[in-house]
Amino acid sequence: MARIQYTKALSTGIRVIDNDHRMLIDIANALHDAVDRKAADEEVSSALDALIRYVEEHFEREEKFMASCNYPDIAAHMKQHQGLAQTVYRLQRLNRTEPNKVSWNEVLDFIDTWLTHHIQKIDMAYVPYVRNLVSNKTAPTDALPPLQALTVRVPPDSIEALFTIVNILAEGGEEAKKLLDCAKQIKQAD
Ligand SMILES: [Fe+2]
Repeated sequence: MARIQYTKALSTGIRVIDNDHRMLIDIANALHDAVDRKAADEEVSSALDALIRYVEEHFEREEKFMASCNYPDIAAHMKQHQGLAQTVYRLQRLNRTEPNKVSWNEVLDFIDTWLTHHIQKIDMAYVPYVRNLVSNKTAPTDALPPLQALTVRVPPDSIEALFTIVNILAEGGEEAKKLLDCAKQIKQAD
């Protein structure tokens, strides 16, 4: 299968982000190699684990950048990140439990397409903000409050529920308020 080539079209011009993207592409290509060589299950698994670890690390870094410049589309961007994270966590679970059921060609094609589309279209949109080329004052007044990025460790079964909760909290509003009240009550009951 073809590999992703890092080209100028993928460059944001922000060195730390570009380094991350190169690293993600290298790791995705290493996963391609392991699959193509029909490497042992452990090697494929560890290439997938490496991709997941780096995806988590990179998304956290990118979200901190967006939060620090009050990027107005941060919530939609984070949803995209969460979508990919959910997919790769599901893939990791399936690969651990029923590796024969993973259709690697489809998976690798999806990861390649996601990465190139996301970098070229979604990431490029925050570049002017992160590079201070657009004043933060131009952000819509109803922009969401800045969001704090963090990494948490939860049992795999809770991941989907956690994403739902995180999305509700990120969007604010009545639902978020109910969740926060509920959390307060649980804390008080401890
Ligand atoms: Fe991104």
